[in-house]
Amino acid sequence: MNHFLSTDDIDSLPEWLKKGAALAQGIGTPDLPGQGKTLCLLFFNNSLRTRLSTQKAARLLGLEVLVMNFGSEGWNLELEDGTIMEAGAAEHIAEAAAVVGQYADLIGVRAFAGLSDRTLDSAEGILNGFVRYAGVPILNMESATGHPLQALADALTIAETSKKISPKVVLSWAPHPRALPQAVSNSFLRIMQRMPVELVITHPPGYELDPNLVGTYKPVYDQKKALAGADYVYVKNWSSVQEYGKVLHRDPGWMMNAEKLGDAGFMHCLPVRRNVVVEDAVLDGPQSLVLKQAANRTISAQLALRHLLNAL
Ligand code: CP
Repeated sequence: MNHFLSTDDIDSLPEWLKKGAALAQGIGTPDLPGQGKTLCLLFFNNSLRTRLSTQKAARLLGLEVLVMNFGSEGWNLELEDGTIMEAGAAEHIAEAAAVVGQYADLIGVRAFAGLSDRTLDSAEGILNGFVRYAGVPILNMESATGHPLQALADALTIAETSKKISPKVVLSWAPHPRALPQAVSNSFLRIMQRMPVELVITHPPGYELDPNLVGTYKPVYDQKKALAGADYVYVKNWSSVQEYGKVLHRDPGWMMNAEKLGDAGFMHCLPVRRNVVVEDAVLDGPQSLVLKQAANRTISAQLALRHLLNAL
């Protein structure tokens, strides 16, 4: 059974990018591999792009779609085995996932990091609970540690727009008033390591990403130095990994502006806080790729759903 849990579920990235480009151009025989099947999307957290692009992609493939805001409308789920359920949780994920698996042929799950316990978040209790108990293919719509649909859309955007064989791509940390997960940055790193790009990571000391994901890449703490000659600048906030979930500082000097961006394309997954993460002039300027990235979410979702349907 195919799942789409991380970018590791993309067997051949060049092949997926080629198929994505063809889908974007409407090339290929229109088929409806999802006809007669149902996709259930479960949101434990808010969403705009993921919610709508995945539904649109599903309908383009002929799938029926059920959507539930599980975080606000579902029962609190127990994730541990053998618990005496006398506290807050009304239902165990074993029953909840198995029940949804009877109503749907495919299940999408969005469940963010809690950012208070790194071990708990790394275990991906909700996503893996659905994998374990639902009995149907599972689509990760952003989990505690990864956002592979976004990363695939980002890779499609670079592949579609790059004028160079090996562009320089900089992942640049940005200030933010709230503690945010590392999911987007993690998946972006993972997928860029499989692209023919020169990858540079820049952030203030203390914001080092998971060494298991960063691999041999050494962060450049001097943002100006890191940005020199960049073709793409992917701006994203994340909270500290070492001091797990903490906002160590909010230095506005790390905000992206037109001068720092130079001639590079500007990328961000959205939603973005204007004039905190990036100034208006960049977001509203011709080098912004954020709407193209969002458009490519419909393509990345079609690719992932086709993978689940064995129709890629
Ligand atoms: N980029 C992204 O996943 O957007 P949403 O959180 O609005 O779905």
